[in-house]
This record gives sequence, C-alpha cells and structure tokens, in this order.
Amino acid sequence: MNKVLATSLSMLFLVSGSALAGDATAGKEKAQACAACHGDGSKTLMPYFPRLSGQNEDYLIKVLKDYKSGARNNQIMGPQAVGLSETDIENLAAYFSSQPGLVVKK
Ligand code: HEC
Repeated sequence: MNKVLATSLSMLFLVSGSALAGDATAGKEKAQACAACHGDGSKTLMPYFPRLSGQNEDYLIKVLKDYKSGARNNQIMGPQAVGLSETDIENLAAYFSSQPGLVVKK
C-alpha cells in the first residue's frame, strides 16, 4: 500500500515537475500577438520596443508577471500582459529565451 502510494506520488511529482517548464512551441504561437511591436523578438519595429530574443528565461517570467500585476508599470506593455496566464508567461519565456540573442551562447 505504502509502495503504491509512494509510486503514485513520485509520478505525480514528475508530471507536475515537467508541467512547470515552459513549452517553447506553444510560446512561439502565442508570440504572434507580440510581433506587432517586438517583431520576431530579435528585430523590433521601434528602438524603444525591447529585444526579447536570448533574454534570460527567469527574467522574462518575472517581468511579465510584474507587468501583469502592475509592479512594473508601463502604459503600452501593461495591457499586453494582463490577459496572459501563468502558463502563457512560462511558454513565452521558454520561446524567447531559446532564440539566439546578441551574445553567443556556448
Ligand atoms: C503595442 C506594443 C507591444 C506589444 C503588442 C507587446 N509589447 Fe512588450 N513591450 C512594449 C514596450 C513599449 C516595452 C517597454 C516597456 C517598458 O519600458 O517597461 C515592452 C517591454 C516588454 C518586455 C520587457 C523587456 C525588458 O527587457 O525588460 C517584455 C518581456 C515584453 N515586452 C514581452 C512581450 C510579450 C511576451 C508580448 C506578447 C504577449 C508583448 N510584449 C507585446 C510594447 C509591446
């Protein structure tokens, strides 16, 4: 009985553990909504629209949550983040951080 419980608990942990990592493919699809300003992430349309490609994943998650909560207040970007779910944010962060940035990753 305990063994069964332990096995199912560890399986549950594995499943939820993998669900925490962002899905870059889903993020790419979601990123179409960002292209109007951020382009493909590497070439933005205006100099004051920041580059997102190659940015640190944890940073992207943090800043998108901050825009959503209002902790980082920006009249243009704030409304873009309000409708994003936690999963959207993780997926978008996984996608943009997986794209090549200005600094070559080893
Ligand atoms: C209408 C234009 C517009 C759209 C659409 C838009 N953004 Fe932005 N975004 C901006 C602007 C302008 C800034 C800079 C705001 C600031 O200075 O805080 C920004 C900043 C950001 C930042 C912070 C970058 C940094 O280096 O700190 C992230 C991350 C971001 N946007 C992600 C997204 C994502 C993901 C989407 C799509 C869901 C999106 N944006 C859609 C205009 C836009």
